[in-house]
Amino acid sequence: MYQQVPACVGLQHHVTTLSGNTVRYVNLDNTATTPPFVDVLDAVNDFLGWYGSIHRGSGYKSFFSTWIFEQARKRIFEFVGADTGYHELIFTSNTTAAINKAARVMSLSKDDIVLVSQIEHSSNDLPWRQRSTVIRYDVNKDTTINKESIRNLLIKLHGRVKLVSVTGASNVTGYIPPYHEIAELSHSFNVPIFVDCAQLIPHKKIMMGMQNDPRHLDYIAFSAHKMGAPFGTGVLIGPSEVFQPRDVPSDEPGGGTTDILTDEKPFWTTSPDRFESGTPNAVGAIALAKAVEVLSAFGMDNVEKNEAILWEYAVGKLTKIPKVKLYINPAESIDHTPIIPFNIEGYPHGLVAAILGFEYGIGVRHGRHCADSLVLYLLGLSKDEQKRVVKQVVDRGRKTDIYGVVRPSIGLCNIKEDIDRLIESVSKIVKDGTKYKYQPEYNKTMVAGRITQQTGEYRPEGFSLEQLLKTGKPPNSLMSLSRTYNK
Ligand code: ALA
Repeated sequence: MYQQVPACVGLQHHVTTLSGNTVRYVNLDNTATTPPFVDVLDAVNDFLGWYGSIHRGSGYKSFFSTWIFEQARKRIFEFVGADTGYHELIFTSNTTAAINKAARVMSLSKDDIVLVSQIEHSSNDLPWRQRSTVIRYDVNKDTTINKESIRNLLIKLHGRVKLVSVTGASNVTGYIPPYHEIAELSHSFNVPIFVDCAQLIPHKKIMMGMQNDPRHLDYIAFSAHKMGAPFGTGVLIGPSEVFQPRDVPSDEPGGGTTDILTDEKPFWTTSPDRFESGTPNAVGAIALAKAVEVLSAFGMDNVEKNEAILWEYAVGKLTKIPKVKLYINPAESIDHTPIIPFNIEGYPHGLVAAILGFEYGIGVRHGRHCADSLVLYLLGLSKDEQKRVVKQVVDRGRKTDIYGVVRPSIGLCNIKEDIDRLIESVSKIVKDGTKYKYQPEYNKTMVAGRITQQTGEYRPEGFSLEQLLKTGKPPNSLMSLSRTYNK
C-alpha cells in the first residue's frame, strides 16, 4: 500500500506552458537531483542561527557547530551500516568529488589496474582513468553485470588489480548489480571493492558490513542532493587504513590539514581533517544527516514499496502507448531503481524532453546521461555511428545528432498524479505526432538556432529564457541576482 511520504519543498510550484495554461510543475528528474525535504530545510534554518566556525573557534557557536557537524558524520556513517573498526567517512562536495578523492588518496599509478563495468556513469570511470589503467569487465546482453568476466580478469591480471569498481544502480536503466556478490568475488582475490552509491542510496537500504564479512563493501560514495538535502555535500567512506597513515599526504593541502607547519615541511594531521581542507560545509553535512533521519523514520522499505508502486504503474501504462520503446530490463527478478528510459519512434529524444517541458510542465533528463557506452548499446548503435557523432561534436561543435534516451525518474516526493501527467503527455505527443504538429516547428528552430547547434537542445520558435523564467513567477529575492551592478 502507498504510504503518505515526508513533506518535500516546492511541489506546488506552477509554470505556464507554451499554450498559456498554468500547470503544477512535475519533477520527474529525481535521478539527477531531488527536492529537499521540509524537515531538512527547517533543520538548516535552525542551524544557521547557531552557526559558527568549525574546528577553529573558541566561542559557544563554534563549539556547538563543531559538535553537531561531528554528530552528523556519525549519523550518516550509521545509516549505511559502516564498520567503526574499519571504515571512516570523509565529507566531499558530491559523488564525483568523492570518487576523485578516493583515486587521489589511493596513490594509484598507471601500472595499477582498476576494473570498471561498461554501464558506469563517467564519474565512476574518468577519475580512475586519469590515475590508473582502467579495464572494463563485460556486461551480458541484457546489460546486467557478467561476474565471470570479473573473475577472469582477476585471474588474468592477478597482482595488478588494485580495485574493482561498480555502480550501485545504473543512472540510465536503474539496474542494481549484485554488488555484495561482486565484493565477495573481489575479496577472494584480496582486491577491495568500490560501489558508486549515488543512484542507490535514495532508494534502497545500504549495509556496508563488517570487515570480517567477505561481502562487505570497502568504499562507497554518494551525494546529498539526490536524497533530499541539496546543500553541497557528498560522502566518501573507505578503509581507515588507507586514510590514516601519516605519510599519506593531503590530496587538497591547505587550512586544517596539518598539526603544525614549518617552512620546510607540513606535519599532516589525522584523517578525516587531512582530507577535508578549508572550512567544512557544516550546513551540508547537517542537512544530509537530517535527510538520513527523515528517510530512516519513513523506512527505506517503505521508500522502495512506494516507488515500486509508481514505477509499475508508469511502466504498465507506457508499454501500452504505441511507438513508445522502453529501455528497461524486462526480467522481473532484476532489482532496479524507479527509472523509465524510453524513446518515441520517429522523435529525437531531445524533442520529446522539450515538448514535455515547454508544453506539459514536466521536467525530465534526456541524452547520454554521462553513461555513453550503456546508452550506445541500448540504442543498438555501432562504434562507427559513435565516431561520426564524435567527429561532429569535436570538429564542428555540433551536438544535434548526439544519441540518447528520455529518462523520467521517480523519487520519494512523487505522487500518482505526476505519473498520470507523464502518461497523458506522452500519449498526446504520440497522437499529435501523426499530424507532425511538433516536429517541423522544432526542427526549423534547430536548424536556424545557434544555441541549439551548440547544446543539442530543442527550443520552441521565438524562445526566450527571460520569458520562460517569468512563467514560474520566481521571487524577487532571487530575480534581483540577475541585475548587473557594474557601471
Ligand atoms: N548523474 C546524474 C544523472 O544521471 C546527474 O542525471
